Amino acid sequence: MELIVAVFDDWGIGKDGTQQVALSADRKFFRETTRGAMVIVGRRTIEDFPGQKPLPGRVNVMLSRSGAEKEGFTLCRTVEQAAQLAKTVDRAMVIGGGSIYEQMLPLCDTAYITKVHCTPKSDTFFPNLDASPEWHLEKILQSGIEDGIAYDMCLYKRK
Ligand SMILES: NC(=O)c1ccc[n+]([C@@H]2O[C@H](COP(=O)([O-])OP(=O)(O)OC[C@H]3O[C@@H](n4cnc5c(N)ncnc54)[C@H](OP(=O)(O)O)[C@@H]3O)[C@@H](O)[C@H]2O)c1
Repeated sequence: MELIVAVFDDWGIGKDGTQQVALSADRKFFRETTRGAMVIVGRRTIEDFPGQKPLPGRVNVMLSRSGAEKEGFTLCRTVEQAAQLAKTVDRAMVIGGGSIYEQMLPLCDTAYITKVHCTPKSDTFFPNLDASPEWHLEKILQSGIEDGIAYDMCLYKRK
């Protein structure tokens, strides 16, 4: 399984249910990287989707222990159930948020990490893969500056 996330310099990923800084270059990278894949997402992150609608052109899997079904999403009640579903497709990507990344990171071997070089205050964090003995930075795929903020799209692989 793969995952995709945008992190700030302190590995913060969000605050108050949303991303404080969202670069259009990163949105494009996200769209292109997840296109056609199964995306696995926590119920809270869906609340931040436009119109709380499923992402078009992808199979949307929602994780929720107690929430109701949502049109356009396949509901899973456990991480294990989502991991089983992921085996039925060519490509499954974990797309957040914080609690889902934390629980599913051990099941992933590839991570697309956009480093957004600023440090707004976050209340949700992703594990620092640069400090992990289990992961290494394989390649920087793309770099740039948008609105004065530098960014790098990085490919990490499990060692
Ligand atoms: N920077 C990025 O790339 C990025 C990407 C995505 C999200 N985010 C940010 O991450 C934050 C949201 O993260 P979060 O941790 O608060 O919420 P979340 O991970 O999106 O969703 C949490 C919800 O998922 C469900 N859930 C969690 N573990 C589960 C399990 N084992 N089995 C079944 N359901 C499970 C529960 O839903 P129920 O309560 O319905 O049971 C839980 O309340 C936001 O700030 C968002 O902007 C950032």
